Amino acid sequence: MVDPWHTNGIAVIGAGVMGVGIAALAVAHGLPVTLVDIDDDKLARAPELVTSYTRVGMLMGKLPRGGTPGTLTTATTLDAAAPAWAVVEAVTEHAETKAKVLAELSTVVDPGTLLATNTSAIPVAELAAATIRPADLLATHFMNPPYLIDAVEVARGAQTGDAAMARLGELFELLGRRAIVVGDGPGFVSNHVLMRMINDAARLVTQGRAEPARIDEVFTECLGHRTGPLATADLIGLDNVVDTLAVLFERTGEDAYRADEELVARVRAGRHGRKSGAGFYDYGSTA
Ligand SMILES: NC(=O)c1ccc[n+]([C@@H]2O[C@H](COP(=O)([O-])OP(=O)(O)OC[C@H]3O[C@@H](n4cnc5c(N)ncnc54)[C@H](O)[C@@H]3O)[C@@H](O)[C@H]2O)c1
Repeated sequence: MVDPWHTNGIAVIGAGVMGVGIAALAVAHGLPVTLVDIDDDKLARAPELVTSYTRVGMLMGKLPRGGTPGTLTTATTLDAAAPAWAVVEAVTEHAETKAKVLAELSTVVDPGTLLATNTSAIPVAELAAATIRPADLLATHFMNPPYLIDAVEVARGAQTGDAAMARLGELFELLGRRAIVVGDGPGFVSNHVLMRMINDAARLVTQGRAEPARIDEVFTECLGHRTGPLATADLIGLDNVVDTLAVLFERTGEDAYRADEELVARVRAGRHGRKSGAGFYDYGSTA
């Protein structure tokens, strides 16, 4: 029998931090991947990054060894996603951009193709309204790095169909991922909580209460967290944190999500965290 997962493959839209990581996860599990971005430079770097992430994942025992990797194809237009059996959208965290991309995708792919948005905070129901097939859309909130983290926060929108949930189940089986299904709403569970914590920690730095390293140490050394909020923010990307805070503030009006001014200033100064070589911490090189 023809296996559409291995013949049609999946498409990943957005070749940034998350898109390339998700592509690496799928390629390492033998699935053909079409990676789409509007930025040629991002696409040019992707194959080398996918190879390097795959190597890291295997070394850490998080990705399978010995199988045949899937192919990686890059493209600059969404019609390249047409044959895909599932599409993961991982473009910039701007509601209008995501709505536009998902709207177009829903007209390009066959009915029943899973549309999974990797949004950090925009409710599925809101994005579904932009598509012609809201039943096919759900949120797969992969966290960074997606090729090392086994669990994925999944949000089912009010209109998400059972068929989409079933197709996601097949995809996660192939990728060795476990879904933690939560209700729909701004920030789902993770970022509803995490973003106010990061913003609050940033405010304490601005007020001079403590240096970033001391704040993070309280979480790692006293509370046993694996990383502190500011190191986590650098890993996420401070530009993405500010975008996600804006999404949350616009939808909840809660002051906790009004981005700290110094955090915004860091982003304006190009300190985007690990990926730019500096954020709350200096890294020396980009990662
Ligand atoms: N960085 C994280 O830790 C993290 C974790 C979970 C979820 N997310 C979410 O994943 C998504 C991507 O985040 P990221 O950190 O990879 O961002 P990023 O800025 O690294 O990458 C975004 C990519 O989207 C591309 N893009 C923008 N508009 C596009 C369009 N119209 N068509 C195709 N490509 C387009 C950009 O060129 C860029 O390469 C966001 O929704 C973000 O909130 C991020």
